[in-house]
This record gives sequence, C-alpha cells and structure tokens, in this order.
Amino acid sequence: MSHHECTCPKDFAAEARDIVGACGGGREQAIPVLQEIQKRYGFLPKELMREICKIADFSEAQLYGVATFYSQFRFKPRGKFALKVCVGTACHVAGAGAVVDALCDELKAKVGDTTGDGRFSIETVACLGCCSLAPVMMIGEDTVGYLDPLQIKKTLTKASEKQNA
Ligand code: FES
Repeated sequence: MSHHECTCPKDFAAEARDIVGACGGGREQAIPVLQEIQKRYGFLPKELMREICKIADFSEAQLYGVATFYSQFRFKPRGKFALKVCVGTACHVAGAGAVVDALCDELKAKVGDTTGDGRFSIETVACLGCCSLAPVMMIGEDTVGYLDPLQIKKTLTKASEKQNA
C-alpha cells in the first residue's frame, strides 16, 4: 500500500473519478469511498474530498459528517513517526492515559493530530498484543514498552534517533 503523504499537486479530479468508479457514488457509498481515499493516501485530502463531491450523490457537508463520526478517519497525514498508543485494558490499567497526556503535552498535539513539523502523529489503538510490556506504544514499526510518562521526551528522542540512523 502506497501512501502519498506529501502535498505535491495531484490530479485530484482524475483520482476522484477513479474512486467513484471503483466504489460507486451513491449516498450509501460514503463510507467505502472514505475508506478507499484513506487506503490510498493514509488520510483524507481536502481537495480530493471536494472533487469527489462534485460527481457523487453526497455533499461535502455530508461526507465530512460521516468522516468525523468514525474515529478511523484522519484529516492530516501521519507524521514521519506515527505514534500508536495502546489503550487496551492492560495498558489502560498500567497508566496509558498518563502516557497519552504526556505525549500530547510534549508534542503540543492532540490524539488524531500531527505535529506542525510533520514529525509525529498521535493515535490511540486497541490491544497491540504485548500486554506484558504495558503500557505500550508503537513508534513507526517499533514496539516500545514499559512507558514512563515522565520519560516520554527521552523515549521519543531515542526512537527517532534510532530510526533516522
Ligand atoms: S492492552 Fe496494550 S498491549 Fe494489550
């Protein structure tokens, strides 16, 4: 799956025709259309949403209404380092909430958001399957466990240095 996470100009009109051709443009197709956009881009580019609504049976307001209702959809590209914080039961009990707060504080971003420099994005996810390391998050492809909210800055620095290397 290829993600175009840059803002390079694209032929969104052609892309819109392609997506509506593949998914259909009826009202009940709004969710499959959104899923297809996100599959292709990793998020929902505004210009593409606009082009799609020109040729489909739903308005921009309707499409955004559906998109904001479901937390799976995102409106900004993921950061270079996508942070996925587990908020499953074991991690929750081990303090995942404080980890999320520490991350948001440190990066001055909200869950679902990407930092202004495009480096980090924060998401919460369900059990990552390594509960014995709780609390856990993914930093890109790496799993990092035993997170300490007081050490969050260090954890981020270490992980980004490692993945830059
Ligand atoms: S609950 Fe977090 S890894 Fe299982």
